[in-house]
Amino acid sequence: MTDKPESETKAANAMWGGRFAAGPDAIMEAINASIGFDQRLHAQDIAGSRAHAAMLAAQGIIASSDAEAIRKGLLTVLSEIEAGGFAFSTALEDIHMNVEARLKEVIGEPAGRLHTARSRNDQVATDFRLWVREQADAAVAGITALQRALLAQAEAGADWVMPGFTHLQTAQPVTWGHHMMAYVEMLGRDAGRFRDARTRMNECPLGAAALAGTSFPIDRHATAAALGFDRPMANSLDAVADRDFALEFLSAASICAMHLSRFAEELVIWSSAQFRFVRLSDRFSTGSSIMPQKRNPDAAELLRAKIGRILGATVALFTVMKGLPLAYSKDMQEDKEQVFDAADSLMLSLAAMTGMVQDMTANREVLRAAASSGFSTATDLADWLVRALGLPFREAHHVTGSLVALAEGKGCDLPELTLAEMQAAHPGITQEVYSVLGVDNSVRSRQSYGGTAPDQVRAQVARWKEMLA
Ligand code: ARG
Repeated sequence: MTDKPESETKAANAMWGGRFAAGPDAIMEAINASIGFDQRLHAQDIAGSRAHAAMLAAQGIIASSDAEAIRKGLLTVLSEIEAGGFAFSTALEDIHMNVEARLKEVIGEPAGRLHTARSRNDQVATDFRLWVREQADAAVAGITALQRALLAQAEAGADWVMPGFTHLQTAQPVTWGHHMMAYVEMLGRDAGRFRDARTRMNECPLGAAALAGTSFPIDRHATAAALGFDRPMANSLDAVADRDFALEFLSAASICAMHLSRFAEELVIWSSAQFRFVRLSDRFSTGSSIMPQKRNPDAAELLRAKIGRILGATVALFTVMKGLPLAYSKDMQEDKEQVFDAADSLMLSLAAMTGMVQDMTANREVLRAAASSGFSTATDLADWLVRALGLPFREAHHVTGSLVALAEGKGCDLPELTLAEMQAAHPGITQEVYSVLGVDNSVRSRQSYGGTAPDQVRAQVARWKEMLA
């Protein structure tokens, strides 16, 4: 399976520990081999080979007895790998040749018939697609679990008032539930992107062979169906050259990781001694070795950072793929480690965020006090001037601004201004204005679809619960 005589391969292997002391051969082996990482594709590789062998027999291309020997042998190899301790060989380069070489040892001559009408080019494209497809499903499952945790928070706190921010400045009161539901929406789009990518990637490259198809009478529809694909890919060049499925997965992962990073940043801020909006559980915080008062939100900080490597992987693979002529080039072997690392990072991030959200406790009193400060109901006052006095909004905005300036000067909040002070700003103002200056009334009044009113939040929670059921 290698062009080198066995003795030479063995010699190179023997020198392996010697830091390339064996010279160019060992260096070539080191740069060429992918077995160090693509052994992760062993289950997909064996599934692809089983489908291929069964199809070859059904088409009369190989004998049924050979296909049966191959099937049994592949199952043996699979269980050997799964048991651990399988002796992967760098000289055999990649997972495809490692599996086939072991199959030869186990079943002998029929193993040589497996690679009929196939190439490692369509083989690796198939294996990798199967792997990424599984990860897309896992991502959706991880996202759904996180959404459920957020829904529980939203349901409990549908009417807990907290400050809503723009520019990280207090803007208007919102509800805890509303804030949680914002992330449910974002994650819903993330799940949609993974599902969408999965639908598009679910075509089978197997049977494209090296690049041009094959002269054997294969049945690509049969192998596609056996592997759970919707159909075979329609162009053999595209089939072996395409890595869009990996790029789409990485792109979806990057956007999702960016969402997690934003939420993580909020948790870092909210859990600080200055904010105290939430308490993260001990399980997701650490103490300091020197400062006993500290509770560090390590998990949140790491989640905030994971976008770095996930987006890094995305950029790396785009850069590998750009400018590659059709069809297969060895450059494409550089696809896997990026995707493996990004997928692992994303799954861990989703699990960690789910745990943090399940465990965290909102500090209701602090949230409420914060919502009541910073003139958060200034917009409610302006809206009231429009509704009750018929002022144009621009003028209402101006009157409100002068009242905010007055309160600021006095060091008090809007509800603490006297009616006389209010009327000095606009004579039409009545006692009724005080009803809109409270934070509960403020959030309750925001009944527009998608607004922060507790009823609206509860309606969205119910809608999502049904969708996720
Ligand atoms: N290890 C290779 C990869 O990951 C498999 C395909 C090799 N094909 C070839 N013609 N050398 O891309």
